[in-house]
Amino acid sequence: MLGSGFLILTEKDQAGSPVRDADPAASANLFMLITFTIDGAGMEFVGRDVIDLKDFTRDEVECILKVSEEFEPIASGKERSRLLEGYVLCNLFFEPSTRTRLSFSSAMMRLGGSVTGFASSATSSAKKGETLSDTIRVVESYCDVIVLRSNKEGAARLAADMSSKPVINAGDGARQHPTQTLLDLYTMKKEFGKIDGLNIALIGDLKYGRTVHSLSYALTMFPVELSLVSPPQLRMPPEEISDLEEHGLKVKETWDISDVIKTCDVLYVTRIQKERFPDPTEYERVRGAYSITAAMLEGAKKEMIVMHPLPRVDEIAPDVDPTSHARYFQQAFSGIVVRMAVLSLVLGKRRG
Ligand code: NCD
Repeated sequence: MLGSGFLILTEKDQAGSPVRDADPAASANLFMLITFTIDGAGMEFVGRDVIDLKDFTRDEVECILKVSEEFEPIASGKERSRLLEGYVLCNLFFEPSTRTRLSFSSAMMRLGGSVTGFASSATSSAKKGETLSDTIRVVESYCDVIVLRSNKEGAARLAADMSSKPVINAGDGARQHPTQTLLDLYTMKKEFGKIDGLNIALIGDLKYGRTVHSLSYALTMFPVELSLVSPPQLRMPPEEISDLEEHGLKVKETWDISDVIKTCDVLYVTRIQKERFPDPTEYERVRGAYSITAAMLEGAKKEMIVMHPLPRVDEIAPDVDPTSHARYFQQAFSGIVVRMAVLSLVLGKRRG
């Protein structure tokens, strides 16, 4: 695994290097690929795992967002690309997914690459008792990059430690979901032209939701105001709040949705993570505790946007969809561009 900064050639790079690509242009320029830097800023992405945004600097995050923009025409199908032709992505999804798995696949395929993998543990050898490390040992020889989702915290890190190929964390239990966070940041930046100075409210299951854990940490890189809005049972764990504050983020906790709706630029709504409750009666007590409706948005700023990583259950009423505030479907589209950027960067291929 690589840290940030200039690239040092590691085993992972040798085994996972695009040098093995049959593309003569890629093969010819080993040096260029190995020393791949972005705009001379000394950032290195080739062969890198994407497990946790804590492993990335603000400059690196901004670089990924910038590279993402370049992929808009390809993601929307206006332009065609063979950038990742000959590369294989392996999706290992031990937990359900629609957007993350399909957008990784779509990103890879629209760039000319191929995709293999499984969509549930029920159809993999995990069902027969195979360990994650054995699965990774085998799968790394079938592909150039691995995308992994698991209900186990730390699974992606373990896989990255085992794998000579880059591993991208597509969600590990309630912990992290870095590419979701990148697409969330991309959506905000696209909307407001910047992230600095935004007033952002995270609403819902802040205890078990990995998207909000990932996003709140990433927001420590930017001078923003953050409100954490949840029923008392679903508060963000106090140690996580302390971590955010130690990283300099101004955090306000409340359960008054109407208060934040008037002041925020981004209302980031999340689903109650039913599957992560150790006790189903605990879930029953909070089920349906909040739902954002169009009427509730009447006092909001004109430019305020409602985001949601999706899937939604009942926390955003359908009457919000036609309002000028709804951005969750556009947000899901941004998943393609951001994942195109991440794949091309870790595989050492850049447009143009
Ligand atoms: C999220 C997840 O899996 O954490 N979904 C997604 O990737 N867009 C959010 C959720 O399941 O609630």
